[in-house]
Amino acid sequence: MHAAAIVAAAGSGSRLGADRPKALVPLAGRPLVAWAVEGLLAGGVAEVVVTVPAAERAAFAAALPGTIRLVDGGPTRTASVRAGLAALTGPGRTAPDVVLVHDAARPLTPPEAVARVLAALAAGAQAVVPVLPVVDTTVVVDDDGVVTAAVPRAPLRRVQTPQGFDRATLVAAYAALDDAAELTDDAAVVRSAGIPVGTVPGDERAAKITVPHDLALAGLQLADLQVAR
Ligand code: C5P
Repeated sequence: MHAAAIVAAAGSGSRLGADRPKALVPLAGRPLVAWAVEGLLAGGVAEVVVTVPAAERAAFAAALPGTIRLVDGGPTRTASVRAGLAALTGPGRTAPDVVLVHDAARPLTPPEAVARVLAALAAGAQAVVPVLPVVDTTVVVDDDGVVTAAVPRAPLRRVQTPQGFDRATLVAAYAALDDAAELTDDAAVVRSAGIPVGTVPGDERAAKITVPHDLALAGLQLADLQVAR
């Protein structure tokens, strides 16, 4: 099974308050995107395409090994992944059997989490996402912030990346999607095409970096690993 990955890294990361795209923000001296790519390769992915802001190509090229291909992203995550997907095929390329789509903003995703997604695809899943349970009480509020209902949390899950797909299934789902559609993840794209999406256990260490506190936590996670070694 030939597995490729698309790393979505073309966002600005304005919520992190950095002076550069979030994927280039350093964690222990290395850009987030470099950590994310390394985790995918260690988990069994053979080929990685990174979608980048067009104006930042040189900075991404300097941050990543020369074997990693860079593709200009689009104005939305959906548009960026579409561009990455198109770059996986073409003259002289062997189309991968399966594609993992990952956020550069999840730098410390352990290789085992990547391997679980690949194993589900190897076992025949068309689409699979890593998930975690919801541990907090979860409620619905009205426009004034007043609680109107409590949501039973047992069936709820938080969805992470990398999300895995049979390549042909993902390509067909993107082709059927309206050009202007903006979905927050790729599982939503294949579900909109009527494809069932399976789950595997996610990992808290694959947390997404959104605000400065998340970056601080990731730094602690690394310090912890170094102590354990
Ligand atoms: O903004 P958010 O953290 O949800 O973005 C998730 C991922 O999608 C990030 O890794 C970001 O770089 C990527 N992205 C992208 N193209 C965009 C917007 C976001 O590749 N236009």
